[in-house]
Amino acid sequence: MTEQLEIKNLHVNVEGKEILKGLDLSIKKGEVHAIMGPNGSGKSTLAQSLMGHPKYDVTQGEVLFKGQNILDLEPDERARMGLFLAFQYPYEISGVPLSRFLLQAVKARNEESAETASNGKAKKLAFGEFRKLLKEKLEILRMDESFTKRYLNEGFSGGEKKRAEILQMLVLQPEIAILDETDSGLDIDSVKIVAEGVNSMRGENFGCLAITHYQRILNYLKPDYVHVMVAGCIVKSGDYQLARELEEGGYDPILEELGIEREAEEVS
Ligand SMILES: Nc1ncnc2c1ncn2[C@@H]1O[C@H](COP(=O)(O)OP(=O)(O)O)[C@@H](O)[C@H]1O
Ligand SMILES: [Mg+2]
Repeated sequence: MTEQLEIKNLHVNVEGKEILKGLDLSIKKGEVHAIMGPNGSGKSTLAQSLMGHPKYDVTQGEVLFKGQNILDLEPDERARMGLFLAFQYPYEISGVPLSRFLLQAVKARNEESAETASNGKAKKLAFGEFRKLLKEKLEILRMDESFTKRYLNEGFSGGEKKRAEILQMLVLQPEIAILDETDSGLDIDSVKIVAEGVNSMRGENFGCLAITHYQRILNYLKPDYVHVMVAGCIVKSGDYQLARELEEGGYDPILEELGIEREAEEVS
């Protein structure tokens, strides 16, 4: 299997302070990885840096996506290449219905794939085709079509915002999806539905980096690898069993074993 996302010695500063301190991680085609870690360890910083948020300043290291260094690319270019981020705190866009937002996003993504197509012709996405795709994905997430007529995230409950993020992922069909605590604040049924949405994508052309605080979603996602992140580095990696240990014993035993002092926790 080939490497799909390779992060090498990544150092990232936020407002002059080093948050990621030499992080290495590599995801092969079709793999699902989970990252767990205490608050403030830099999980969202990693997610935002991978997507190219301008506030996150990469000072050292490399990120290769499908073999290409993406650090100089704009966030929209990364998205069109097939990288997707479900935000921990999704944005609200007033005046833009979710359905229109999704249509524009899918169109942009299709144009990119057409650039590399042999005939060079942009594949036009018929509206009927889009409706069909959207309907199919709404069913997976057990969402009503009326939901897509509402303005993006405006007045959405926490759970609805997270489902809207996963709906975006399902229609965009990224090759690597980064989910930043998509399970936080969801009731148990919603966690299951969100996980089913992710699982419906699983296959050779889909890799996933799921950031989470809880083992619960991992029961459904069954990740191939689990990583523990502390103070800007991955300090331990293992299989699914590692998530169970964390759920039972918390982070302290691992920190102790590795001789790491826990930094003052910040609420995030
Ligand atoms: N946009 C930001 N502005 C200022 N500080 C930030 C920002 N993003 C992250 N940080 C700081 O970086 C550290 C790691 O935060 P974060 O990546 O959100 O951790 P996690 O997601 O693991 O809880 C924290 O100390 C946080 O205050
Ligand atoms: Mg976070």
